[in-house]
Amino acid sequence: MTLDRNLAVVGAQWGDEGKGKIVDLLAPAFSVVARSQGGHNAGHTVLVGGRQFILHLIPSGILHPGVTCVIGNGVVIDVGALFAELDGLAAQGIDLGGRLLVSDRAHVILPYHREIERLAEERRGALRIDTTSRGIGPSYEDKAGRRGIRIADLAGGAHGERLAGLVRANVEARNRLVAGEPLDWREVHADAAESWARLQPMVGDVSEFLASALAAGRAVLFEGAQGAMLDLDHGTYPYVTSSNATIGGVCTGLGVGPRAIGSVLGIAKAYTTRVGAGPLPTELDSVLADRLREVGREYGASTGRPRRCGWFDAAVVRRAVRINGIDALAVTKLDVLDALEELRVCTGYRCGEEHLTDLPADVERLEACRPVYETLPGWAQTRGTAGARREADLPAAARAYLDRLEAVCGVPISIVSTGSDRSETIVRPESLGARWLT
Ligand code: GDP
Ligand code: IMO
Ligand code: MG
Repeated sequence: MTLDRNLAVVGAQWGDEGKGKIVDLLAPAFSVVARSQGGHNAGHTVLVGGRQFILHLIPSGILHPGVTCVIGNGVVIDVGALFAELDGLAAQGIDLGGRLLVSDRAHVILPYHREIERLAEERRGALRIDTTSRGIGPSYEDKAGRRGIRIADLAGGAHGERLAGLVRANVEARNRLVAGEPLDWREVHADAAESWARLQPMVGDVSEFLASALAAGRAVLFEGAQGAMLDLDHGTYPYVTSSNATIGGVCTGLGVGPRAIGSVLGIAKAYTTRVGAGPLPTELDSVLADRLREVGREYGASTGRPRRCGWFDAAVVRRAVRINGIDALAVTKLDVLDALEELRVCTGYRCGEEHLTDLPADVERLEACRPVYETLPGWAQTRGTAGARREADLPAAARAYLDRLEAVCGVPISIVSTGSDRSETIVRPESLGARWLT
């Protein structure tokens, strides 16, 4: 199959699948790259010729001068974090020159969100989610509670009565919740109001912009953050993030219709990782997990936390394929498996007397499930896959492993990533179409 224009790129596991690398690779074929959900909990690492860029809020297409980047209404924005990211990119020589559009309808994260999150995590004790502590959940809670503050509310700066009223009500609510020193709403208001002057030139109506771009035939890449198993509705609830990281989030988070999305590319690691608490059925014992973590440098790009590691879980990826309507997969980090004698792929779970091929809704039940594995030979005895750029350069056992992943996930693999650099990638031309990477 050939992937269509206007491509959505979504994480098919628990995040950190390598979405940033793949979006950066594909971005030259697009005019616009748009983020629809999440916030600076995301960390997307892009490596180009030895230079590393870590994107959090700004779409990973930004490194290409011809690409306009969009942050949609579904994203929650810590304006200070956005400015810091813009400054960091400028220091690395990336000229944004009017190429960033921020939705006037996006909600903001204010300092009390982070505080409320810290308290909520403390109260949960052993049941904590292990969030990224960025204030993401509480900001989305305010949005759903219809007391959130949006980018448009910052307009008018210090003289905006509406902003003062909203901040005051929210800070007073926080002061009733949090013991100790009360927060002064005037300070929070002054900081928020001050940010408008710098923000204003980037702010606009994203839905309108995308509609015009699409009508003019400009190709749009919809960039997902997090992954299907962290989706608020479809993931391993409650061990999830607070937004829809699956395909529906593109429509609600950017104000586009479903037919704006031509094809869906799912990104999956050749094994599985998860950062934070919650079930990970194929989690490995410490020796093998440590090995994958070290070879794959599995430490969070946002928080530096070690990622938990496990075998590839086809039940997880099949679920992601179904929910997102994934047309093809990009499989990343194949090189990390290079030194292993033997590989395992989970095809389902044994849960008491039952055999399951999908994840049960109840996380306690999922925790009690045991993975059912297929064992495949590794390619430790032959040349590795690291840095391979052509399919013909892959050892036969690696090709057999990929063939098996296609079969158990039920979708073709269009891209195979064999290293963190943009260039360390195999693109299967028959599935992606030659016009993509010209
Ligand atoms: P994202 O959040 O989905 O964009 O993924 P992250 O950037 O958080 O994590 C993926 C990590 O793996 C980054 O450090 C990438 O540089 C790195 N990476 C991506 N693809 C590959 C690959 O094929 N091989 C190796 N070894 N590293 C990769
Ligand atoms: P990218 O886009 C991996 C995880 C956190 C935690 C849970 C909830 O880089 O793939 P939150 O702060 O969102 O309320 O935390 O979600 N999490 C991620 N894990 N990659 C991410 O983003 C993540 N964003 C959130 O670790 O378990
Ligand atoms: Mg990441």
